[in-house]
Amino acid sequence: MIKIAPSILAADLSRLAAEVEEIRLGGADYVHFDVMDGCFVPNISFGLPVLKSLRRATEMFLDVHLMIDRPLRYAERFCDAGADLVNVHVEADSEENILAALRRIRSKGKKCGVTLKPATPADALKPYLGLVDLVLVMTVEPGFGGQSFMTDMLDKVRAVRAMLDEVNPSCDVEVDGGIVPETAAAAKAAGANVLVAGSAVFGKQDRAAAIRSLRES
Ligand code: DX5
Ligand code: ZN
Repeated sequence: MIKIAPSILAADLSRLAAEVEEIRLGGADYVHFDVMDGCFVPNISFGLPVLKSLRRATEMFLDVHLMIDRPLRYAERFCDAGADLVNVHVEADSEENILAALRRIRSKGKKCGVTLKPATPADALKPYLGLVDLVLVMTVEPGFGGQSFMTDMLDKVRAVRAMLDEVNPSCDVEVDGGIVPETAAAAKAAGANVLVAGSAVFGKQDRAAAIRSLRES
């Protein structure tokens, strides 16, 4: 099943609840929530208080993408603020601390995921393969919306899907960055089943049509 996860980084944040209601009515599956700390990535977005408010405004599944250093420090607080899934970057700390973060998210009864930057090989997933509900393959350099899809990430999507099929077949594969209908089709063909899209949804007047065209691409 293909899931569409619009990224609110591209939404009008002064009317966040209304924006999220529009994508819910438009058939979105998840809300993708990009947290940036200005250290792990060269940009700052939003964090715990915004997540807490959004949790009160919607029952939608909140897919939290932590682009922060040493996510173990905050994993539990994002769970408590209302995340349904918390995703941490494998590059953001030691293997031991990433494993600890994943276990902590699990112990909070939430789903957990790991993310790979474009330069990180699929093999970097090995320690986490059996522990995660979702693997996110970045298809742009994390930090900004509106960038172009990196076609050479499709091989990584295929490799990740194949590794998961061996040990954790129910795990989802998500792609994030530069997703438009054409690149969505390529990502799906490579094995991705959760598609994050910022500009391709919130940059369009008709959000329902935008979501449909990604799903049906
Ligand atoms: C980038 C973020 C993405 C971003 C995607 O660091 O992780 O979720 O919002 O934006 P688009 O779809 O516009 O490339
Ligand atoms: Zn993201």
